[in-house]
Amino acid sequence: MQARYTRTAMLLHWLVAVSLLGQFAFGWYLETIARGVPARGYFVNLHKSTGLLIGLVILLRLGWRLTHAPPPLPDSVPRWQQQAAAASHYLLYVLMLVMPLSGYIASNFSRFGIHFFNAVPLKPWGIDSKLVYGIFNQIHVVSSWLLLALVIVHVLAALKHQLVDHDSVFSRMLPQRLPVRR
Ligand code: HEM
Ligand code: HEM
Repeated sequence: MQARYTRTAMLLHWLVAVSLLGQFAFGWYLETIARGVPARGYFVNLHKSTGLLIGLVILLRLGWRLTHAPPPLPDSVPRWQQQAAAASHYLLYVLMLVMPLSGYIASNFSRFGIHFFNAVPLKPWGIDSKLVYGIFNQIHVVSSWLLLALVIVHVLAALKHQLVDHDSVFSRMLPQRLPVRR
């Protein structure tokens, strides 16, 4: 019997994955709303608020991961692939932190700050600076593309394990083991 991720690891993985993909879509949707219209502020603040909540779940996930070692990969996975998996997971965690953090810092260097769920104004702790806002907003945009690219590679790797290698790696992250064709 191959080692699997625990239910908590699976729950955190899928909760964060689905929320992040939704948050990506939300971010791109924001770019389609004309600047200057009042409705834009409503949606931008909603994006900031859901992003902060997702950021908290990501912190929880990271804390949990740092105190719980992942199950070892099967011996059939070549050493270089095990190293590539470890490196890409590390990078995924880094980008998962950079995304909400850059958005949060950028927002605090703008006089608009954050209106949490359009109900609770969180006073910005930074100065109103277009320069600082611009830098962190740029980090937010660039890391969103990096994270998206890495997630695509991640999904392709998971599918390769299932469809090409026919091993148990995909199933390690699923509550129910998928049938493996030998
Ligand atoms: C949790 C993960 C998050 C993801 C995946 C995410 C994703 C995105 C994406 C894809 C965009 C559009 C970028 C573009 O192509 O121009 C965006 C824009 C933005 N995000 Fe996030 N975001 C996250 C969290 C946050 C947080 C926590 C904040 C602030 C507290 C925030 C504030 C913003 C702002 C201010 C913009 C620019 C809106 C504008 O165009 O004026 N984001 N985000
Ligand atoms: C935003 C989307 C996603 C992110 C940020 C993400 C992130 C991660 C991370 C960081 C790990 C390593 C877990 C650990 O050891 O701590 C992982 C594992 C895994 N993910 Fe994702 N994931 C995402 C979406 C997906 C999707 C859509 C699939 C499947 C189609 C998937 C399949 C897997 C599998 C099978 C593993 C276990 C790999 C192994 O056994 O080494 N992930 N994911």
